[in-house]
Amino acid sequence: MFRNKSAVVSLVACIVAVITALPTSAATVLKLSHNQDRNHPVHKSMKFMADEVKELTGGEVKIRIYPNAQLGTQRESMELMQNGALHMVKSNASELETFEPAYGTFNLPYIFRNRDHYYRVMQGDVGEQILATSYDKGFIGLTYYDGGSRNFYANKAINSPADLAGMKIRVQPSPTAVQMIELMGGSPTPLAYGELYTALQQGVVDGAENNPAALTLSRHGEVAKVYSQDEHTMIPDVLLISSKAWDELSDSHQGALRQAAKNSMMYHKTLWEEMTNEAIDKAKNNLGVKFVSVEKQPFVDAVKPMHDAALQNPAIASYVRAIGELAE
Ligand code: GCU
Repeated sequence: MFRNKSAVVSLVACIVAVITALPTSAATVLKLSHNQDRNHPVHKSMKFMADEVKELTGGEVKIRIYPNAQLGTQRESMELMQNGALHMVKSNASELETFEPAYGTFNLPYIFRNRDHYYRVMQGDVGEQILATSYDKGFIGLTYYDGGSRNFYANKAINSPADLAGMKIRVQPSPTAVQMIELMGGSPTPLAYGELYTALQQGVVDGAENNPAALTLSRHGEVAKVYSQDEHTMIPDVLLISSKAWDELSDSHQGALRQAAKNSMMYHKTLWEEMTNEAIDKAKNNLGVKFVSVEKQPFVDAVKPMHDAALQNPAIASYVRAIGELAE
C-alpha cells in the first residue's frame, strides 16, 4: 500500500517513541501494545500481570499498557517491536503465523478436542517450544491467553459449509485462515480487526468469525445478528516481548516477568469463562443476536486436507503430531 514502507514504519516508530517518552527514572518501563478494549478480559489479565511484575521487582520493572490499537494494528505493533520502538505486544496465534510459522499450528481448524486439550497444549512442552522458537526473529512469547472458540457471525445462519457459498468472510491476515474459508466454500477477506465493524456495517464483508466477546466488547453484534457455533478454531492470544528487551533484563527481572505472565494465564482462564458467559447473555438480550447450534462434521470434513498438509509441513508437523498425542 505504501511506496516506502520502511520509511513509514520508522516515522511511526519515532512518533511512538516521542508520545510514550517518560520522565527519566531508574525503573525499566516496558511499553505493551494491543488491539482490545480496556474492558476486554485480556486487557484485565495483562493489567494483573503488570501489577505482579511491579510488585515482584519492587517497582524496578513497570509495564505500561496501550490498548485499543492506539499504537497501531497488531501487525504494525509487531513491526514496531521488531524495530525496537515497542517492547511488548499482545497478538494472537493467527496473525503471528506470518512472523513465526510455528504459530500456524494453533490455526488448524479442529486441532483441539476441547478446552482441556487446548490447555494441556498451551501449558505443556509444545506450547513452551512454540513460545521460544521466534528468538532469532526478534521476539519471544511469554504466555498464552485463552481466546475461546471462534465461530461464524453474519446476518444469516451458517449451518453448513454450503451456506458460505458466495459470502465474503473477514479473516485475520493469516494464510491458514484464508485457506480454511476457501476449503469451506466462502470468500476470505483479510482485514485488520479495527476495520471490521465498519466493513460489516457497510457490507464490505458479509460475515466474520471470532469469539462471543467480539459481539459485545467490539460491538459486532450490533451489525451481525446470527452467531453459528461451529467452533472451527481455538486460537490463543499471545503475550510477546522483543528479544532485545528480554536480553536487557536481569535474571531476576526475567524470572519475575515469566512468573507473572504464567500466573496471569491462570487468572485469565477464570475471567475468560465468566466474561464469555456475560458476553453471550448481553449479545442475546441487549443486542438481539441469535445463537445457532450447528452440526460440526461437515465443517470438519471440509478442512481435512489442511491436516494432511500440516503433517507434511516441516515447520509444524512435529507440533501437530505432539498435539494429537495429547488428545487422549
Ligand atoms: C481476537 C483476538 C485479537 C484479534 C482478533 C481478530 O479477538 O483477541 O487479538 O485481533 O481476534 O479477529 O483480529
